[in-house]
Amino acid sequence: MKPRFKARVVLVTGAGSGIGEKAAVGFAREGATVAVNDLRPAKAAATVRKIERAGGKAFAVPGDVSDAATAASIVAAVEKRGRKLDILVNNAGTGIAGTVLNTSENDWDRLMRVNVKSMFLMSRAALPGMLRRRKGVIVNTASMVGVAAVKDRAAYTASKHAVVGLTRAMALDHVADGIRVNCICPGTTMTPWVTERVNESRDPKATMASMTARQPMGRLGTPQEIADGILYLASDQASFATGTALVVDGGFTA
Ligand SMILES: NC(=O)c1ccc[n+]([C@@H]2O[C@H](COP(=O)([O-])OP(=O)(O)OC[C@H]3O[C@@H](n4cnc5c(N)ncnc54)[C@H](O)[C@@H]3O)[C@@H](O)[C@H]2O)c1
Repeated sequence: MKPRFKARVVLVTGAGSGIGEKAAVGFAREGATVAVNDLRPAKAAATVRKIERAGGKAFAVPGDVSDAATAASIVAAVEKRGRKLDILVNNAGTGIAGTVLNTSENDWDRLMRVNVKSMFLMSRAALPGMLRRRKGVIVNTASMVGVAAVKDRAAYTASKHAVVGLTRAMALDHVADGIRVNCICPGTTMTPWVTERVNESRDPKATMASMTARQPMGRLGTPQEIADGILYLASDQASFATGTALVVDGGFTA
């Protein structure tokens, strides 16, 4: 296959782990220069090293993408070092369990800030450059709970529905500007985040078994399977796709 991202500059947020890391490595493998963001600088640096060891091009832009000044400075740093930003992948996110009754106001605010506001801030910083070049792609990581609900995830579900809504709104606002905006909706995926939640649970074996049992395919997704969807949406192969929510969930929401 021809490398799809030759000469493209791509910024992936939350790329120090899981889905974001696989996406960053995938973009670099297909010719992109990848700006690797993560809240944890050591994690961002590790992904950069992984890309460089494989012969790819990457640099780290660590920082909290839910902070307005930091988000603006991350995009400015990418545009300075890469000379442009072709593709923004708003992937950083976090989750918590809970119903409306046992979700604290602090947790609600934190989830909305990290999962939704960060995408608004990063997109707001990246769009002016894309508008100037009349070209750009934004891919947001939502979730299968952006289009459906599961029990005991009230704040997380609300935040991911907001990501799908923001994606659609931005797609329409910029459809005439040469900018495409889409989101990916992963089902439960075997990333470090999920592994940590399982290990923290009272009975990790039982938790894993129940997560697997609810999957029509009888297994969780791999970060690579989700990254492949992100790369598709970011590539010219998806040139007619904007405002879409690509569900990759092993049939969970079927
Ligand atoms: N794993 C799943 O089952 C699953 C399912 C659906 C959606 N998602 C979504 O996929 C995305 C990636 O999740 P993952 O499972 O790979 O998680 P992960 O924890 O393995 O990776 C997420 C990375 O984002 C970073 N991050 C968190 N907050 C940040 C911030 N404010 N600024 C910059 N970086 C930040 C973390 O440090 C971490 O390295 C998230 O948006 C998540 O909601 C995951």
